[in-house]
Parts: sequence; C-alpha cells; structure tokens
Amino acid sequence: MKIPAKVEAAINTQIKEEFDSAYLYLAMAAWFEDQDLPGFAVWMRSQYQEELEHAHKFFDYLFEREGRSLVPSIKEPQKEWKSPLDAFRAAYDHEQYITSCIHKLVKTAREADDVASERFLDWYVNEQVEEESTAMNIIKQLERIEGSKYGLFMLDKEMSSRGTLDE
Ligand code: FEO
Repeated sequence: MKIPAKVEAAINTQIKEEFDSAYLYLAMAAWFEDQDLPGFAVWMRSQYQEELEHAHKFFDYLFEREGRSLVPSIKEPQKEWKSPLDAFRAAYDHEQYITSCIHKLVKTAREADDVASERFLDWYVNEQVEEESTAMNIIKQLERIEGSKYGLFMLDKEMSSRGTLDE
C-alpha cells in the first residue's frame, strides 16, 4: 500500500533531522580532535555514521512504500563547546529533541491509519531510548571526573573503543 502523503512528508522532514544530527556529531568530532581528545573524536565519528544509517533507513523505506525522498537541505551545526561535558550535554539535549520528533511521527502515522509506518517506527522509538541513555551515561562519567586531567585522559582512551561505555 502506498504511503499516505502526510506520512511521506513527515518522514522527509525526519530525514533532514537525521542528517542534521549526523552533521552535528561530525562537528563535535572535529571539535574533539581540536581539543586533542582523539578518543572522544572516534566516538563522535561513530555516532555520525549511526545517524547516516538512521537517515538511509528512512530513505529506503520511502521507496519501499512507493514514496519519494526529497533530499532536504540540512542546517549548519554548532561548532564550539565550552568543555567535553558541555558537548555531551548538548548531544543529550539534541537526542531528547529527536525523540520528540520520532514520537510526533508515530502520531502522524497513527492518525493516517498507516499501520506499516507505525510498526516501522518502533525501531526508532527503541533506538532513541538507547541514544538518550548512552549520552546520559557519558555525562555522568564526565561529571564524576570534572577538573581531573588524568580522569579525562583515561576516559578519552576508553571512548576510542566505542561500545565499552554505551552498552
Ligand atoms: Fe538518529 Fe541520534 O537519533
């Protein structure tokens, strides 16, 4: 069944949000590189890739449902943060915003009686729970070591093997 026009439009908006997210994390990766924190930069690059996957998953879904992605333009991201903690707080706030976008999308699919899209969106709902929890976990670790250069050095080393902190 062809995707309802309203849901198609809403998913196109969400594709933009996912690319905005990717670009934000790439900007954070660049900032961490500049701060000589390569482990955090690796983590952010990995997050960038994940966001691209989120966008592509929506992109492919539209075609599966006889819709079309309009390849919307993306916005220029923030480029400076005061500290690693400031950057991760911004990442957490951003993920909360994305969660609200996904929930709105679920509502749009429900109102359009588009059961297939509602089911498809379950994956994103669960992913957002994980995304928020991951960012919060890192915020807590950064708060714990705040002011300690050695603590930051050790955490940076750990961050380079992505997966150890967010599982
Ligand atoms: Fe695609 Fe980080 O949400």
